[in-house]
Amino acid sequence: MKLDLTDEQQMIQAMAREFAETAIRPIAAEIDREARFPHETLKRMGELGLMGIAVPERWGGSAADTVAYALALEEIARACASHAVIMSVNNSLYCDPVLEYGDDAQRERFLRPVASGLAHGCFALTEPQAGSDASNQATLAVRDGDHYRISGRKQFITSGREAAFTLVFCQTDRAKGHRGISAFVVEKGTPGLVVAKVEDKLGIRASDTAELLFDECRVPTANRLGEEGQGFRIAMATLDGGRIGIAAQALGIAAGAYERSVAYARERTSFGVPIGQHQMIQWMLADMATAIDGARLLVLRAAALKDAGRPYGTASAMAKLFAAETAMKVTTDAIQVHGGYGYIKEYEVERYFRDAKITQIYEGTSQIQKLVIAREVLGG
Ligand code: CAA
Repeated sequence: MKLDLTDEQQMIQAMAREFAETAIRPIAAEIDREARFPHETLKRMGELGLMGIAVPERWGGSAADTVAYALALEEIARACASHAVIMSVNNSLYCDPVLEYGDDAQRERFLRPVASGLAHGCFALTEPQAGSDASNQATLAVRDGDHYRISGRKQFITSGREAAFTLVFCQTDRAKGHRGISAFVVEKGTPGLVVAKVEDKLGIRASDTAELLFDECRVPTANRLGEEGQGFRIAMATLDGGRIGIAAQALGIAAGAYERSVAYARERTSFGVPIGQHQMIQWMLADMATAIDGARLLVLRAAALKDAGRPYGTASAMAKLFAAETAMKVTTDAIQVHGGYGYIKEYEVERYFRDAKITQIYEGTSQIQKLVIAREVLGG
């Protein structure tokens, strides 16, 4: 088993770290406070090739692999979880399925601008009554000649306000249940697509999370991704990859909070010594370091399996579960290490703590990851 990274993976990791430290970290607190979508830094991330990392160059991407993607995402999340989720959705939940299931004409129109970072993509699966129970879709797409008319409501859509392209899942044949779900790309500005609400959130505040309303929204049949009825499988397979991205995001949040805790343990004194000399602080730091390394190994294993073309759904569920739980525990303990200073906004760990929570919820809650893992353990 090799643990060494390739030259290309190391280069992308170093480039992402440098950008995160110099361009993102200085604005992270401010954009969180103002809940401001970071257009400028995301544009530069696109120029650096971070918005379509594993997409072939032919379609505007960087032609790197999933391991490089996970490494870069960890670095971005270490500085700012909002940038990381926008990057993750763009790469995993939008570019991946359009590359995989689109034809060349669709890749040209819907993938190239997003993979090259000129536009954002989003993934609209969740509905008010269809969160964990994702197949319970109510949004309808009714065939009307060479178009479909889409009507329904999508909720908690990351980048829903900003995205130029929305990958939306709809029922095209209600009688068939999950086998009657189909996927469509809808362009921003299509009449009938309305951003109904932008949520005010606990964390990842600089990303936008929107409710989208589809009101008789006419979409050409040429915008359907894959066959009619293939949509739920597309959604599930896409989420297998998306969970690697969110696991890497959770890992970056944990790593960022841990690094601040180590620094604080060295500089803060109590009872006449740096607090890092107290065993109770040492234990917390040792637990953090061990869990973070464990999460990183799980993330890289899932990414490597995907790159090798081997089954990776269970591995990505394990990575997402463990990394999200680690992020929550590490950020909680990071506040504890900082004491009262950890609880105020001046110190960054408070933001890391708020940002960590969502990683246990989106792209499948921790409970859903356990369900996916348990089904594999029990044999289907
Ligand atoms: N890959 C391909 N196909 C899959 C699959 C996978 N990983 N998992 C299931 N399927 C297929 C099955 O083979 C089955 O197909 P057939 O019936 O045609 O054979 C079909 O999908 C239904 O499978 P299940 O019976 O297992 O489906 P289920 O209703 O029991 O649901 C579930 C399974 C795991 C609970 C699923 O609903 C799920 O993952 N829920 C969580 C949803 C989720 O993660 N939402 C995130 C929203 S996006 C988001 O959060 C983005 C963001 O903003 C950051």
